Amino acid sequence: MRSMRIIEHPILGEQKVDKIVHITVDGRTIEAIEGEAIAAALYAAGIKTFRYTEKFHKPRSIFCAIGRCTDCAMIVDGVPCTRTCVTKVREGMVVETQEGCGKCGETE
Ligand code: FES
Repeated sequence: MRSMRIIEHPILGEQKVDKIVHITVDGRTIEAIEGEAIAAALYAAGIKTFRYTEKFHKPRSIFCAIGRCTDCAMIVDGVPCTRTCVTKVREGMVVETQEGCGKCGETE
């Protein structure tokens, strides 16, 4: 699997990869490690814009990485405002860049 991943860490050791799954991101199929967060899979594939703000159309990506902000929100399997930093990938998942706030009620 060619990606931007850290596969061997000096403290955590070697990353174990039990199973590779495939997800579709804006029509492009990418590989992901089963059980990892969608955001991690996107970063590993070089995708760093997850949504655009409604008011100024500014790109957003990972900010808190713990599910507390909305910067990583995307449309996942048709559900807007899914926090991709805390949502695990599944085989066949369809992920789309989100324009604005979707229907979640967030403002920026
Ligand atoms: S980066 Fe903040 S909720 Fe995902």
